[in-house]
Amino acid sequence: MSTPARAAARRKQPHVLANAPFRRLWTAMATCSLGDWLNIIALTALAGNLTAPSGFQTQSLAIGGVFVAKMLPAILLGPLAGAVADRFDRRLTMVVADVLRFAVVLSIPLIGGYQWLLVATLLVECVNLFWVPAKDATVPNLVPKERLEEANQLNLLVTYGTAPVAAALFAVLSGVITTISAAVPAFTVAATAVALYLNALAYLASAVMIFTLRAIPKDHVRHVATPSVLRQITEGWRYVGGNRVVRGLIIGMLGAFAAGGAVIGVAKAYVHAMGGGDAGYGTVFCAVFLGMAFGMFFGPRLLGGLSRRRMFGLSILCAGVTLAAIALIQNLVVVVVLTVVLGACAGIAWIIGYTTIGLEVEDGLRGRTFAFLQSLGRVVLLLVVAVASALAALFGQRDLRISELTYRFDGANLVLLLGALLAVAVGVLALRHMDDRPGVPIGADLLAALRGRRFVPDEAEPARGLFIAFEGGEGSGKTTQSRLLAIWLRDQGFDVVQTREPGSTKVGMRLRAILLDAAHQGLSARAEAMLYAADRAEHVEKVIVPALRRGSTVITDRYVDSSLAYQGAGRSLDPEDVAKINKWATGGLVPDLTVLIDVPPSVGLRRMASPADRIEAEPLEFHERVRREFRALAAADPDRYLLVDGTLEQREVTLLIQDRVRDILPDPVPHEAEEATGTMPAIRDFG
Ligand code: TYD
Repeated sequence: MSTPARAAARRKQPHVLANAPFRRLWTAMATCSLGDWLNIIALTALAGNLTAPSGFQTQSLAIGGVFVAKMLPAILLGPLAGAVADRFDRRLTMVVADVLRFAVVLSIPLIGGYQWLLVATLLVECVNLFWVPAKDATVPNLVPKERLEEANQLNLLVTYGTAPVAAALFAVLSGVITTISAAVPAFTVAATAVALYLNALAYLASAVMIFTLRAIPKDHVRHVATPSVLRQITEGWRYVGGNRVVRGLIIGMLGAFAAGGAVIGVAKAYVHAMGGGDAGYGTVFCAVFLGMAFGMFFGPRLLGGLSRRRMFGLSILCAGVTLAAIALIQNLVVVVVLTVVLGACAGIAWIIGYTTIGLEVEDGLRGRTFAFLQSLGRVVLLLVVAVASALAALFGQRDLRISELTYRFDGANLVLLLGALLAVAVGVLALRHMDDRPGVPIGADLLAALRGRRFVPDEAEPARGLFIAFEGGEGSGKTTQSRLLAIWLRDQGFDVVQTREPGSTKVGMRLRAILLDAAHQGLSARAEAMLYAADRAEHVEKVIVPALRRGSTVITDRYVDSSLAYQGAGRSLDPEDVAKINKWATGGLVPDLTVLIDVPPSVGLRRMASPADRIEAEPLEFHERVRREFRALAAADPDRYLLVDGTLEQREVTLLIQDRVRDILPDPVPHEAEEATGTMPAIRDFG
């Protein structure tokens, strides 16, 4: 079945929320998430209020304490709770947990006092540790496999989407209560208490919903222990360390977590210093999430022309600059506006980071990579929140005097400024680590993207034809597919030049003989990279550019990405160096579209009929690295790549490629012509 047909079939199935048991669990989850967010906002506000009379330092420490109490149980007991939750009736586990959470949260405003607040927070978090895995494990039992992804998206939506709702609710609540108490002095209920009552009720409502959810099976008792934290961490590190793009992403995301931690740790104190009360704090909270949602859903679309990798680094950098402005401009209104921008930057980074990891990391490692990111994220967040509030408290409150002017600069300003510096540094690091358009000025790239275009460097400007590259590992079928595409395009009346690397010029043929001769085993990696680049320089100058200038469409079998994958990742040369020599060799000529045909090396190498050449003879591990790099390149710039699963039927691959190429052709391709070539006999020639 072709992709559009499959998509249509999927559309005909009922929405995942039409499934009643899942809908009920999802509603319970949404209610709990709303409660959880209200809980965070109310508790931090309450901790601040309870300790306000003891001064600024104690107040900052007290708020930091709430976060420590929230994170500690997960770090210490997380894996254990996961394993325990697998052995009990999940429905009962969730119901009991909900009732316990209800009771403990209710007791916070009733008992009062900062100490009980901390103890209660710890208790609620311990209970959460059992509720969450029980819920996560239940979702696959209620939803068919093919809808699981959709179900998880909905879960994510309510997990984070309820945050702005909770923040807005809290802001409104505080506003209303302040107004009432101004009018009726006898009215002494605090907004934080009302928020906590609502929070408790949310847990109770969830308990009732889940109690009546009989569809949750009981016979799941499994004895699979979750891997130890130590094992998770070592395996995660091994993978992360070995892949440059993932490394850049993780550094970026953890850096963003750290900067976020700095903000969380001092936000309440800072808002307070600017004269904002609970309502002001609620508004700032709301602003962050509003911005995040905006960034996540619209950011990548608004800046479509920018490569994803650049967008990732730039958004973190921009978050840093915005944070610096927040730290220095002490005006509540300006800070709220800037906070929306900050949230948007974080949202963009978050969605790109998540999507890229999701696309790039293969199935078997993806869970662990996310788990790794999440547990390390928590550790970083916890440490930074604790350090941030402690640092803010230690630094205390100072005034800077510049002649007549007094500028208030206290611990919160300092911490925010440090967070800003960190974000800038991490953003620059991520940009340098992952840049996929070396040599193209980033400012021009960004400006063009803001105008909805993709920046094309001057040198490549005179070329008028379309330039398409095919990439992939051994036996991916790209040679066959590039031929089929050339035939199809010629049938539409395009003038097509079909070519390949290495060896499409006179000199290139000699270089190819050197490069692929199995007798040259042990050729130095740098020499190899430069010989491929030399072949490419000749190829660009003598074949590709003249053809493009004539207006022909050029289809090349392999181009720069092959060097990035084989010499960069495969031979472990510095990818920046490989990119640099190739940029120089090609004069910066980048394909309009790169088709990556992806097959696992074990499959591809099995398809090879002829004896192995020097590169094919490399061990499987080498080819795995090559594949990962190809996928990373494609994932980082989805607008310029088409990633096709090479294990699909040959005809299906052909149609997918035609679909995408049709989008970038200067004129729409008539569909009748497509029918004529769609029935081409299969050509078996894997290359
Ligand atoms: P070729 O026989 O053309 O194989 P394929 O059909 O797979 O393209 O040989 C090209 C070989 O050269 C292939 O194993 C990949 C390798 N290669 C590099 O290592 N770096 C490069 O830049 C290019 C273009 C190819």
